[in-house]
Amino acid sequence: MNVEALPARQGTHQLHNYEEIAANFDWTEVEKEFSWYESGKVNMAHEAIDRHADSYRKNKVALYYKDQNRHEAYTFYEMKRMTNRAANLLQSTSNLEKGDRIFIFMPRSPELYFMMFGALKMGLIVGPLFEAFMEGAIYDRLDDSEAKSIITTPELLERIPYDRLPNLETIYLVGDEVKEQDGHIDVLKHLPDSSDNFELEWLDKEDGLVLHYTSGSTGKPKGVLHAQYAMVQQYQTGKWVLDFNETDIYWCTADPGWVTGTAYGVFSPWLNGVTTVILGGRFSPDGWYKAIEDFGVTVWYSAPTAFRMLMGAGDALVKEYDLSTLRHVLSVGEPLNPEVVRWGAQVFDKRIHDTWWMTETGAQTICNYPAMDIKPGSMGKPVPGIKVAIVDDQGNELPPNQMGNLAIEKGWPAMMRQIWNNPAKYDSYFLKDKWYVSGDSAYMDEEGYFWFQGRVDDVIMTSGERVGPFEVESKLLEHPAVAEAGVIGKPDPVRGEIIKAFVALNDGYEPSEELVQDIQQFVKKGLAAHAAPREIEFKDKLPKTRSGKIMRRVLKAWELDLPTGDLSTMED
Ligand code: WT7
Repeated sequence: MNVEALPARQGTHQLHNYEEIAANFDWTEVEKEFSWYESGKVNMAHEAIDRHADSYRKNKVALYYKDQNRHEAYTFYEMKRMTNRAANLLQSTSNLEKGDRIFIFMPRSPELYFMMFGALKMGLIVGPLFEAFMEGAIYDRLDDSEAKSIITTPELLERIPYDRLPNLETIYLVGDEVKEQDGHIDVLKHLPDSSDNFELEWLDKEDGLVLHYTSGSTGKPKGVLHAQYAMVQQYQTGKWVLDFNETDIYWCTADPGWVTGTAYGVFSPWLNGVTTVILGGRFSPDGWYKAIEDFGVTVWYSAPTAFRMLMGAGDALVKEYDLSTLRHVLSVGEPLNPEVVRWGAQVFDKRIHDTWWMTETGAQTICNYPAMDIKPGSMGKPVPGIKVAIVDDQGNELPPNQMGNLAIEKGWPAMMRQIWNNPAKYDSYFLKDKWYVSGDSAYMDEEGYFWFQGRVDDVIMTSGERVGPFEVESKLLEHPAVAEAGVIGKPDPVRGEIIKAFVALNDGYEPSEELVQDIQQFVKKGLAAHAAPREIEFKDKLPKTRSGKIMRRVLKAWELDLPTGDLSTMED
């Protein structure tokens, strides 16, 4: 293996001349920075870990990990060894082959990343699952993707209905007390004596990388597949947007169960050879500020709900910690209120930079760059080399200041490549075979800044997590008391939106506080805690179309005291 000297690009990538670069940017320029541009052979694990381990970055810390019990650091060299061991363990204990789906369902820990990149070294497609998912949510995802394997913990094992998942062959368990029954494999027992050497699987740039399930307004969650090639955009936005420099200590607060936690938790920083911090455990204002102080975080990527919760914890708390290392602060996931930007400027002495993207885009798409003026409330401007526009429902571009569908021209590097098992659904995202329609409404001002207006569909963003109303409604209907259910997002000052359910009861059931709690528990246990309605309102009957579809728009109008609009399709 060649020892690569990767020149630091300190200060050279700040987009001071955004307009000039954006006018004629060609992604081949970025492709040329990777050896696969010549060889045609690619693997994310090589680009993110191994090539740094074989360079001057060998002894540089790749991963700092901290939770209540552990405080550890791993260099790129150590990450290479540990991921090789993980790959050897997977290979010697399974029939897994290139392109097979393996899921990871466990709380954050160094082992999660060893196993994830071990799986990538084998050429597997990794499906990350948020640890709060319950049996129903796990079943849907593993069943749809015909997953062959899952990596989890002994505590979470009971949520995996493996007797109902005929394709699921091997279960890997990460934990201190593992019983190797039913063919389950004890990861911590076998990792230490697995070999440090592994010949990784060379792939094509269009081969699969990660499969993230995400919610729409109808149907079950959909499997969004990204290709290895997504790395081009994840790498370059690390420079342009996250402003990575060689000496940065970067912390992205997202869980790897969501796309931010993979693309920007590990891929983007490691593609750039940057040290990344992973904090385990739950959110706490003290713990978070302490993490910034302890690690000397320089670049911090989080979400509006988290910033609003920190804001709620008070400014006095901020002063108890030394946050002076922070150079660059960013946000994603929901609208970033100007009020929060102003608060950030006041307490951190840093502007919070908003970024817009989504699971389907695979990487940051509209951003506020360090060298560009921020208009608080705006998502910023498109990443150079990506064309974003506001289009009408027919796919015609609209002029500045007109509200419409936020759309992206097909073919950006990190674009999803498939909706798993559902080509018709994939095609339905595109208008005129040219525009990917995001489901968000927005407008662009005369200076080319984009302004978010809302979702066009009924998708709910609660605490930055995307929840499909249909999934929640379906789960509610499984409760014996529930006859009809309609679910909406209700605006909330901290969480952006909360989930509110309108419920009509079956005969023999009466509204009560116990019933509310019982129904909430039912959704929590069946789906996930973050998908349970915080509010439930009982109604005798819900507004429906003549074909029987619940009219969420009417529920929303009731809730917000707005006019209900056209009711011509409503049943009598
Ligand atoms: C939806 C995508 C990959 C990021 C995490 C969420 C909303 C995202 C912003 C922003 C306003 C935003 C949109 C989008 N969203 N960023 N900066 N301002 N809204 O990914 O779960 O796929 O959700 O999140 O509505 O469509 P996701």
